Amino acid sequence: MQKLKVAMIGGGGEGAFFGKVHLRAVCIDGTREVVAGALRSSAQGSMDAAAQWGIQGYPDYQSMIDAWKNGDLQLDYAVIATPNHAHFAPALACIKAGLPVLCEKPITLTVDEAEILAEAVQASQVPFVLAHTYTGHPMMMLAKEMIRRGDIGEIRKVEAWYNQGWLATDLEADGQQQAAWRTDPSKTGISNCGGDIGTHAFIAATWVTGLGLKRVSARLNAFVEGRSLDDDFNVIGELENGGTAIITATQIAIGYRNDSGFRIYGSKGSLEWQQEESEKLLVKRGEHDETYFIGANFTFFPDSIASYLRVPAGHNEDFFEALGNLHCTMERHIRIRRGETCPAPFEHPGAKEGLAGMQFVKAAVESSARDGAWVSL
Ligand SMILES: NC(=O)c1ccc[n+]([C@@H]2O[C@H](COP(=O)([O-])OP(=O)(O)OC[C@H]3O[C@@H](n4cnc5c(N)ncnc54)[C@H](O)[C@@H]3O)[C@@H](O)[C@H]2O)c1
Repeated sequence: MQKLKVAMIGGGGEGAFFGKVHLRAVCIDGTREVVAGALRSSAQGSMDAAAQWGIQGYPDYQSMIDAWKNGDLQLDYAVIATPNHAHFAPALACIKAGLPVLCEKPITLTVDEAEILAEAVQASQVPFVLAHTYTGHPMMMLAKEMIRRGDIGEIRKVEAWYNQGWLATDLEADGQQQAAWRTDPSKTGISNCGGDIGTHAFIAATWVTGLGLKRVSARLNAFVEGRSLDDDFNVIGELENGGTAIITATQIAIGYRNDSGFRIYGSKGSLEWQQEESEKLLVKRGEHDETYFIGANFTFFPDSIASYLRVPAGHNEDFFEALGNLHCTMERHIRIRRGETCPAPFEHPGAKEGLAGMQFVKAAVESSARDGAWVSL
């Protein structure tokens, strides 16, 4: 079996965050490797960052795609790890050229861009995976499977949250890289907190339950003085089955790091999962609780998940492995398309879910501007 060859767009250079997480996640199974990159916005920066990683550098993503099309570079898929405003153009260029894409969330800067990209993915059938990292946690996948097979009955209510405290002060005033672009509407979009982490909570509420949202009522706040976009994002929504979703995200919860999770209440039981204790899934059906714990030796995992597990219980599988699982899903799509034998890919979020996330954020921003009026998606 040949290793898949991966290109990275964005994610290199001093101080960059998530590109390096992808770098590890790509390599985690030994079946994929990063070989090329257009890793920064400037041509020289890109070449320097690629030299640091010891990979083939390109001054920009278009010249890298051209090299692939001309047969000068072997690639199987591209990872996009740029800030939000720089997802759409490279993603569309890759899809149009026929190169599969694993793209960071939120999928694009605007709903219009997300519509164009989702249409291009649908029309071309080129694999596209959206990097909602937490959906790669086997326990989040197990929650989805349990709901799909009816373990907790009809879904009545979902609470999904993402609490952080890192933007409780105006960190962007000091030029902190991640804060600077996230609080700049030209780079992050119409919502900071909602787009950045509210979309993770939205995916938890909708992807895990398999239920879309019909309408929302929202209250967004910008607590830190001088900030033009929200740093606190609160939404109540109506699920397509008439149930209720409470989706909240905040960046001003001092002392909270990546406190993300969900509680889902059904007619036969409830499920609870928390990102900071990602190896456990709690199932409540009445008097006593059941705790499911991660482990490749455990037989309760359905086939759709078992092949994603790597080590026996008691050894950590966490953040890097979760993102690795999204790369694994991409790898399976690619190998199956080529007629190679491998397990079926899990239904991880793609362009359709990315578009839904953008529509959700837009509706929430509109609702908040109208004092919480209900807005349909
Ligand atoms: N899935 C997750 O859990 C998760 C976590 C963190 C960040 N993210 C997403 O990852 C993306 C990057 O976030 P980050 O925190 O790593 O940001 P960052 O600022 O740390 O890194 C951005 C990288 O993109 C490069 N870049 C900027 N503009 C570019 C362009 N036009 N062309 C090529 N490269 C360019 C920068 O040089 C840098 O290497 C964002 O979309 C963010 O939402 C996702």
